[in-house]
Amino acid sequence: MTQHTTLITGVTHGMGRALALDLAPRGGTLLLHGRKAERLEAVAAEARAAGPGTTVRTYLADLSDLDQVHAMAARIRAAEPHLDGLVHNAVAGGGSRPLVRELSGQGHELRFAVNHLAPYALTRALLPLLTASAPARVVNVASMGQEAVDLDDVMMERDYEGLRAYCRSKLAMIMATFELGAELAATGVTVNALHPAHLMDTPAVRAYGLTPVTTTEEGVRPTVRLLLDPELATVTGRYFDQFTDARAHDQAYDRGVRERLMKLTHDLIGTA
Ligand SMILES: NC(=O)c1ccc[n+]([C@@H]2O[C@H](COP(=O)([O-])OP(=O)(O)OC[C@H]3O[C@@H](n4cnc5c(N)ncnc54)[C@H](OP(=O)(O)O)[C@@H]3O)[C@@H](O)[C@H]2O)c1
Repeated sequence: MTQHTTLITGVTHGMGRALALDLAPRGGTLLLHGRKAERLEAVAAEARAAGPGTTVRTYLADLSDLDQVHAMAARIRAAEPHLDGLVHNAVAGGGSRPLVRELSGQGHELRFAVNHLAPYALTRALLPLLTASAPARVVNVASMGQEAVDLDDVMMERDYEGLRAYCRSKLAMIMATFELGAELAATGVTVNALHPAHLMDTPAVRAYGLTPVTTTEEGVRPTVRLLLDPELATVTGRYFDQFTDARAHDQAYDRGVRERLMKLTHDLIGTA
């Protein structure tokens, strides 16, 4: 993968960091994203040590603010000549205070904003670079934790709970994967989603009070496969449960719901 340039979001902890350290020895260029400069530079230093021949550059943005998402995309477009892989790994999990409904910079429900709006907005903003670099791959790190999105209460103003908000945002991400996969079919840019592994030992899992049952390496392997396996070069618009092409929540197969969700998504992120 010597010539590959890959952007990973949310590398400062958990599976994102493990993925960065897995890819680092493989060469090419790694673009590492985080929201806290000191922590991001510490992980970048680890990646450089793990792969001395790999170029590592860092990008800062708080994904709960769409202005920062768009600004980061503009910096990437200006600085990077190629982008072959984009892994949307960053996440707002169930949270340590799951009954407290939090909002993004734009006043959207935080989990919907960080886990669905931000990655979709970033992908869209980087599409010129991705299509110019094709073949290229977008990997949406979703989850088997999925719950139907209530299109009449997308921001969960009623009956809020953090893990349910997370599950809805992850299904929204999967629905966006299906739509974008179809839209980009002729471009050479593939878009797939996956559940990486069950209850890995990460801050998101522990913050919600869950007990980890597996390691981040379990999630890294199927994620790297979606990113690099030549056998998946033309596979797009799919949801994988680790290594298995799987069925997502029923709502993801309702075309009318997907269309309503994507119209709302475009309205919220400010694209036509
Ligand atoms: N852990 C599991 O068992 C499991 C299961 C299924 C799916 N997944 C998926 O796997 C991925 C990784 O999960 P994880 O458990 O490794 O998560 P994690 O340990 O909590 O790490 C999340 C990463 O996202 C970053 N992040 C959170 N909010 C952000 C924001 N507003 N702006 C920028 N960055 C932000 C965090 O940055 P900070 O360091 O600044 O907080 C951190 O680097 C997620 O997409 C998750 O849904 C995980």
